[in-house]
Amino acid sequence: MSDPLTGHIETVLERHLPPPVPPLSVIHEAMRYAVLGGGKRFRPRLAYASAHLIGISRDLADFPAVAVEFIHAFSLIHDDLPAMDNDDYRRGRPSCHRAFGEAIAILAGDALQARAFAVLNAIPGTLADPAAIVEATRFFSELCGSTGLIGGQTLDLDPLHQPRTLEELTDMHERKTGALIRAAVLLPCLLTPHRMPDTQSRLDRMAQALGLAFQIRDDILDATADPETLGRTPGGDASRGRATFVTLLGLDDARRRLAATLEECRSTLAGFGERAGMLETLVGNLSAESIPA
Ligand code: IPE
Ligand code: IPE
Ligand code: MG
Ligand code: MG
Ligand code: MG
Repeated sequence: MSDPLTGHIETVLERHLPPPVPPLSVIHEAMRYAVLGGGKRFRPRLAYASAHLIGISRDLADFPAVAVEFIHAFSLIHDDLPAMDNDDYRRGRPSCHRAFGEAIAILAGDALQARAFAVLNAIPGTLADPAAIVEATRFFSELCGSTGLIGGQTLDLDPLHQPRTLEELTDMHERKTGALIRAAVLLPCLLTPHRMPDTQSRLDRMAQALGLAFQIRDDILDATADPETLGRTPGGDASRGRATFVTLLGLDDARRRLAATLEECRSTLAGFGERAGMLETLVGNLSAESIPA
């Protein structure tokens, strides 16, 4: 995915990372390794796309864009740890704990999580109302915490209570992956001085469908993609006995469900006209056709 935003996203991510200087070179190197090591930057792109739709400046959108990507990077560092998915590769290179050791990887994840909230709260008063920042922070912390992303990871890891129905699987995915995607889309709405309840609730519906689509696609890729496409070892979900859309529905139905969920995103965006163009492009990037057959 290369477009004018690509360079900008790398620049702002870098700007908000601490410099790798003594006596904290190692932890800061590990944070930088995890954040700056590639990745599709889907969540920051969503934040900019949502900001574009509601008409807020890119300067303001930088803050939620960086905050969500820092939480994402933290969640991936911990997701790859031996106690979790035990993945040696991420984004085509050694995962953070393989490069820096487990202790530093755990700490780098912890620090990125704290930094994400620091970034969101570093928004200058000239760009957003302090009350709006407090509300955005509260919302973000709910989505990142034990009823959101961490809750989803907890359910995913539990070998004795893997989801057995589509409803349970959907609930897990809404937390594990959906929560952060929702944050990326909705934080810009919460930071605007103008309340737009209708727009916000439509975007929320779209974000929930999109989060689900994203994880259905991730499950399909885990079951089908080669290591180069995936950037890590494929087949991890099956080998760990994890319930996924592929194990519950089979590949063909998982693909159909991905297409139907993306269609839901498109129809929710339809009424916004041209302002939704950036979001529509991101929805299109997840299409079932873009997955190698
Ligand atoms: C992978 O996310 C983990 C999930 C939540 C499914 P991405 O596919 O966005 O990973 P990067 O950032 O592009 O590496
Ligand atoms: C990771 O889910 C979700 C979070 C890190 C919150 P996965 O375990 O499915 O992600 P991949 O497949 O390793 O990228
Ligand atoms: Mg996992
Ligand atoms: Mg994993
Ligand atoms: Mg996965």
